[in-house]
Amino acid sequence: MYEFAINTSAPKAELYRELVQSADALTAGESDGVANMANVAALLWQSLPDVNWAGFYRMVERELVLGPFQGKAACIRIALGAGVCGTAAATGKTQLVEDVHAFPGHIACDAASASELVVPVKRDGNVIAVIDLDSPSPSRFDTDDAAGIEALAEILSERI
Ligand code: SME
Repeated sequence: MYEFAINTSAPKAELYRELVQSADALTAGESDGVANMANVAALLWQSLPDVNWAGFYRMVERELVLGPFQGKAACIRIALGAGVCGTAAATGKTQLVEDVHAFPGHIACDAASASELVVPVKRDGNVIAVIDLDSPSPSRFDTDDAAGIEALAEILSERI
């Protein structure tokens, strides 16, 4: 059993510091990428308030394919450049979307989602996966969330 005492009501900088430390401890020394993504998805789900989907899409033969996640069953394949995830994967840049309904081509996997944060995970400069967070609240994510999830992506670069 793993017990991580992450203070979910702490200021964001502290919350993400604890989350990244916990993810580091959980994945260190484990070479199985699926196991690591599954545990990190669970950690994100238990640590971040007001989130209705948290998980991974993996780059498989120039297409995003659903990976381990928490939340409702979701679309399985996303073309590069399509939706928020496909845009993050195609550009290699974090996508911070305050209102998903205003994002051209947004893919609605859960009708409850109102805002979204997608961060690419890179290895040797190439996108190998994206971390996707959805919230039912508009403007749920800000640049502090983006920085926190980017730090997480950095840790995971060689572990998924
Ligand atoms: N909304 C995403 C699709 C993935 S789900 O949110 C889990 C998108 O537009 O890429």
